[in-house]
Amino acid sequence: MDILIERADGVLTIALNRPDKKNAITAAMYQEMADAFFEAEKDATVRAVLIRGNGGTFSAGNDLEDFMNAPSLDHDAPVLQFLRRISTAHKPVVAAVAGAAVGVGTTMLLHCDLVYAASTAKFSLPFVQLGLVPEAASSLLLPRVAGYQRAAEKLLLGEAFDVHEALGMGFVNRAMDAEEVDAFALKQAKKLAALPASSLRVSKSLMKSAAAREVAARIDEEAEHFARMLKAPEAREAFQAFFEKRKPDFSRFD
Ligand code: COA
Repeated sequence: MDILIERADGVLTIALNRPDKKNAITAAMYQEMADAFFEAEKDATVRAVLIRGNGGTFSAGNDLEDFMNAPSLDHDAPVLQFLRRISTAHKPVVAAVAGAAVGVGTTMLLHCDLVYAASTAKFSLPFVQLGLVPEAASSLLLPRVAGYQRAAEKLLLGEAFDVHEALGMGFVNRAMDAEEVDAFALKQAKKLAALPASSLRVSKSLMKSAAAREVAARIDEEAEHFARMLKAPEAREAFQAFFEKRKPDFSRFD
């Protein structure tokens, strides 16, 4: 089981559980996570959602073998179902991040309400390095949360950055030891779960509603570019280079 779902004390926990592949997310895993968010919305006993990764890694991002097959990213594509569900969740979403958080492993955090990260956390947004473009409305939300130049550095150069930078950028609430992060995030999720659900729902909606349409539109706009670029030779070269454990060579492309 690459995704483990657990319900306890009003918290639905989604654990990425593919540690041998650093919790890289396949289409099937996006679908399971999208379905879990759908169930969480319907189930009145679920008061908060927690996302975490097993094996000391949050997520290595989208599975690159899946990317090699250039998925179409039509409206019902599992990744888009997941992004729509997490970005429109009415219930509070908490993330516990340890180890690598690559690509969607970082961009999904922009849709969470509370993000706790271990000192081992390493964030990166290597979309351009892979011949792609940002996704999950990160081209809209990261400049907003972090300021344009800080967002541009992370989204254009794609270099990894640590938890202190992420704190400074504003999308991580608190840094702590790796051994503490899962338990602390669960404790915070349980606190949320004990609060009046309707107050949480309306408060969250008040904070997010002004940007909601823009976010939804940007997810789709990015996905159009993304799907086209997945088929382009630059991305093919980047994926092959990763699996051949070498540096990509983009010099032959204009
Ligand atoms: N898709 C598919 N497989 C992946 C993967 C991904 N995104 N990320 C890691 N893996 C696989 C590796 O191929 C390797 O498989 P193998 O043992 O069969 O060779 C295994 O997971 C372990 O990865 P490895 O690179 O050896 O681990 P590491 O600790 O040295 O580095 C990362 C971890 C996450 C920094 C590194 O794996 C990485 O950069 N992955 C690619 C991330 C990426 O570009 N994601 C897409 C973002 S849009």
